[in-house]
Amino acid sequence: MAETITINGTTRHEQYESLLPQLKSLAKEPDQYAALGNIISALKYGLGFFWVGAYIVKNNELILGPFQGTVACTRIGFGKGVCGHAWKDKKVVIVDNVNTFEGHIACSSESKSEIVLPIYGKSGDVVMVLDIDSDRLADFSSVDEQWLGKVVNIIEGIVNK
Ligand code: SME
Repeated sequence: MAETITINGTTRHEQYESLLPQLKSLAKEPDQYAALGNIISALKYGLGFFWVGAYIVKNNELILGPFQGTVACTRIGFGKGVCGHAWKDKKVVIVDNVNTFEGHIACSSESKSEIVLPIYGKSGDVVMVLDIDSDRLADFSSVDEQWLGKVVNIIEGIVNK
């Protein structure tokens, strides 16, 4: 298993392209939390995001799971914040400026923009969300959505084994 992550390229597209096979390799670890923890670390440190983590659906709430970054809020209700919104509406949510998103839950004033992607279980229900925060405004585009969709597929492979 790779113990260091190597990122090639200057554009984010190129960086995701070099990161993806390494994420697939990390996903081979049989324990789902060990695999997920490493994938989240590789995303945070490989691409230099401010915060990357999973919120896991438990008893109709999102509970903080494996993450890399500053201390974060631990529980998010259905439909609350950007994460709860992505869960409720079953869609990817990109927020260019978190201060203009009504109901945004601020875990850190450093966080300026955000993307949240739902992760689906076998039944088609959302079982967790992947939350990525940037300390730059409007840092996420369709390029991130497209590549992170592939990351979601890898994570779904881990959680639906
Ligand atoms: N901003 C998120 C909460 C989680 S933190 O960003 C880590 C939200 O509004 O759902």
